[in-house]
Amino acid sequence: MRQIVFASNNTHKLRELREILGEGFEVLGLADIGCHDDIPETADSFEGNALLKASFVKEHYGYDCIADDSGLEVDALGGAPGIYSARYAGEGHDSAANNARLLRELEGKSDRHARFRTAIALLTDGSEPRFFNGSVEGEITTEPYGEGGFGYDPLFRPEGWSKTFAQATPEEKNAVSHRGRAVRQLVAYLSTLSQQL
Ligand code: IMP
Repeated sequence: MRQIVFASNNTHKLRELREILGEGFEVLGLADIGCHDDIPETADSFEGNALLKASFVKEHYGYDCIADDSGLEVDALGGAPGIYSARYAGEGHDSAANNARLLRELEGKSDRHARFRTAIALLTDGSEPRFFNGSVEGEITTEPYGEGGFGYDPLFRPEGWSKTFAQATPEEKNAVSHRGRAVRQLVAYLSTLSQQL
């Protein structure tokens, strides 16, 4: 079984990846390798931040590593909040504050088109970094709908849907989401690797 670190402490993401990858891989979280460092996320793109995180783990702990970075891009705001999605309303603020700011910034704007994006970086011994990207197009509603999901989900209605991500089941969201798409590409690639072992 091949060990690989997923540079995250998010137990939900870790469990999801373990379930999808199955037997061929032992997926370790940051806590499992004793990494409690504040990993830098200072790049200017999702890909750059994912690579910074994966490189940090590879360099300091030696493990093959996967890292991800995601966010929301709103066209009428020039792509904001983008890489600043988690802290749009400022450090220490929560999703409610981020969502309130997003609605404020879009007041009076007719173009509400937006997309979620995820970049995953994979760093393995002796190979160049590989990237797996996923996105989902949609629009920002004028008020929040639904209780599920997290982050901007109550304000994001995917193209062709009549409800927001926060009104969807996890399975419905995962089938079309930026993260679901990127993870499925990663898994397809890792499966070809495990068959080579
Ligand atoms: P992360 O890189 O996956 O931790 O995502 C960074 C930030 O982007 C989160 O804190 C959320 O604000 C936002 N975000 C990313 N993915 C989603 C999603 O699926 N739904 C809602 N918000 C998201």
